[in-house]
Amino acid sequence: MATMKSLIGLINKIQRACTVLGHHGGEGMSLWEALPTVAVVGGQSSGKSSVLESVVGRDFIPRGSGIVTRRPLVLQLHKTDEGTTEYAEFLHAPRKKFTDFAAVRKEIEDETDRITGKSKQISNKPIQLSIYSPNVVNLTLIDLPGLTKVAVEGQPDSIVQDIENMVRSYVEKPNCIILAISPANQDIATSDAIKLAREVDPTGERTFGVATKLDIMDKGTDCLDVLEGRSYRLQHPWVGIVNHSQADINKRVDMIAARRKEREYFETSPEYGHLASRMGSEYLAKLLSQHLETIIRQKIPSIVALINKSIDEINAELDRIGRPIAVDSGARLYTILELCRAFDRVFKEHLD
Ligand code: GDP
Ligand code: NA
Ligand code: MG
Repeated sequence: MATMKSLIGLINKIQRACTVLGHHGGEGMSLWEALPTVAVVGGQSSGKSSVLESVVGRDFIPRGSGIVTRRPLVLQLHKTDEGTTEYAEFLHAPRKKFTDFAAVRKEIEDETDRITGKSKQISNKPIQLSIYSPNVVNLTLIDLPGLTKVAVEGQPDSIVQDIENMVRSYVEKPNCIILAISPANQDIATSDAIKLAREVDPTGERTFGVATKLDIMDKGTDCLDVLEGRSYRLQHPWVGIVNHSQADINKRVDMIAARRKEREYFETSPEYGHLASRMGSEYLAKLLSQHLETIIRQKIPSIVALINKSIDEINAELDRIGRPIAVDSGARLYTILELCRAFDRVFKEHLD
């Protein structure tokens, strides 16, 4: 995918620039501050975890009916060199490398229970998981507990508001891209995702509407008014999705088979066939990747400014210690200066 390639290239350059600026020791910036995050928002069991998993392209996030996601999952994807082995690492268990993704799912479940007990309680304390893989882009994705309308047995009455506050604290950040997940088998007019997204992003510039469960809508109904942008117009087009059903999850149907099934669903659908090229998980991933690239390009001027500031600072430092000098620290500064100049040139090219 061409867009994905250029996004990877761009993010890698930013990562290297951030590393160089970090080595210089000035008030550089961290890569993760420079990049946008992506969060999923929606009602309970609307398909949030399933959508997130499709975007990552790996099967490892706990899913199911009822309240499964009970703590925020902050998923940091780290791109590694081609040919390296893919592994996952939790912040709460550093140095333990997971290469089996079924074990990753189990650890997310266990770590959820460790804080909340085997209950229906929730916790604000995020689980932080990093995935190192040659097949991802550097990005932070956030899975969140579902918005609910009423507390169930074993939950305090405050839970409805507690979850909403928690979700809001993530999606109100201006650098957060919102995947607003609405199940098509319920009235989208009552979608909690759209309601909250409208509040925190009234212009809709960072909201993507995602309609899930198209395959299990009531017979005789369809989602065309929404998908064709007549009912709830957003800045970005709506994307319809057919995720793993619970039966597929139970049968452990893999991701590749699920994608194929989804593609077949749209291509052969009497209602959505004419939209097939703009529907599905892969298309959502592509839209998202294009949007991320636009956002990151917009950030380049501020990165260039930071690099220029570093160049000035390093020059001042070299003047102070007197140049030319052969001692180690001087050599190191010269190297960083050269790298900063190189990044400055590269990013200026990206501005055209
Ligand atoms: P979350 O609670 O919003 O994170 O939702 P999950 O991703 O855990 O999904 C909840 C349940 O809905 C699971 O049993 C999924 O298999 C099912 N589900 C999600 N999306 C779809 C879909 O598009 N079609 C069908 N048939 N089932 C889905
Ligand atoms: Na669920
Ligand atoms: Mg979930």
